[in-house]
Amino acid sequence: MNLSNRVAIVTGGGRGIGRTIALKLAEVGATVVVNDIGEASPVGSVAEEIKAMGGQSLAVLADVSSSSDVARLVEETIAAYGKVDILVNNAGIARDQLIIRMSDEDWDRVLSVNLKGAFLCARAVLRHMIKQRWGRIISIASIVGLVGNPGQANYASAKAGIIGFTRTVAKEVAARGITANAIAPGFIDTEMTQRLEEDWKQQLKKQIPLGYFGSPCDVAEAVAFLASEEARYITGQVLSVDGGMAGAWL
Ligand SMILES: NC(=O)c1ccc[n+]([C@@H]2O[C@H](COP(=O)([O-])OP(=O)(O)OC[C@H]3O[C@@H](n4cnc5c(N)ncnc54)[C@H](O)[C@@H]3O)[C@@H](O)[C@H]2O)c1
Repeated sequence: MNLSNRVAIVTGGGRGIGRTIALKLAEVGATVVVNDIGEASPVGSVAEEIKAMGGQSLAVLADVSSSSDVARLVEETIAAYGKVDILVNNAGIARDQLIIRMSDEDWDRVLSVNLKGAFLCARAVLRHMIKQRWGRIISIASIVGLVGNPGQANYASAKAGIIGFTRTVAKEVAARGITANAIAPGFIDTEMTQRLEEDWKQQLKKQIPLGYFGSPCDVAEAVAFLASEEARYITGQVLSVDGGMAGAWL
């Protein structure tokens, strides 16, 4: 895999899976614009790490659920590097609660960041990708969007929405040389899952055929492949990176 001369935007790249994706894309040659939200985000240090590896990188703070922030993210990318080839919609949040106790705010915020954010970023980059007749849109969904999960109605709906959105993007822009795919991680060892109680983690591991949580690298390797020229004939797909977990349920 060689992504030299490719420019990628990775949303939510300050930590966890997004950070690992940003570093992986840089390792295989891409210039990476690392996005995250909030002044306290370590997004600048990810960009510095890429530069220290000899790569090119820029950190842009922006809220993916805000269309003006997303417009600025893409404008800054074009101003710095002249194009955008790869978008990784990774930014995501969870606000778990049983449906009967879920507030309107928790529903709206999770849908806004995880689903509307992916739409806003895709819309903003597609104009540029269509002109150059090449692009890759890779969105991080979740096993939960395929099989559901108690306490995660908002998150599961957003992630299932990502899958329908991805299949639609794939059909709308296939003729322009652009592919769109989703990755559905299972349980990956990040801050999001480190918050789970230990006995719950042990129970979950029993449901994973491979028997352990994945690492952010497992997701990043799949993203790098889908972003590559070698994956040109793959579009509209959902790739599970879950140790076999979804297969055990579906
Ligand atoms: N960890 C898992 O087991 C797992 C499983 C399936 C899917 N996922 C998905 O993978 C992605 C990354 O998850 P993670 O575990 O690394 O989570 P994380 O919480 O460690 O990282 C998410 C990043 O997104 C950023 N972010 C949040 N809201 C944002 C916004 N509005 N604009 C820009 N950035 C924003 C956060 O600041 C954070 O840096 C998410 O979409 C998540 O839903 C994670």
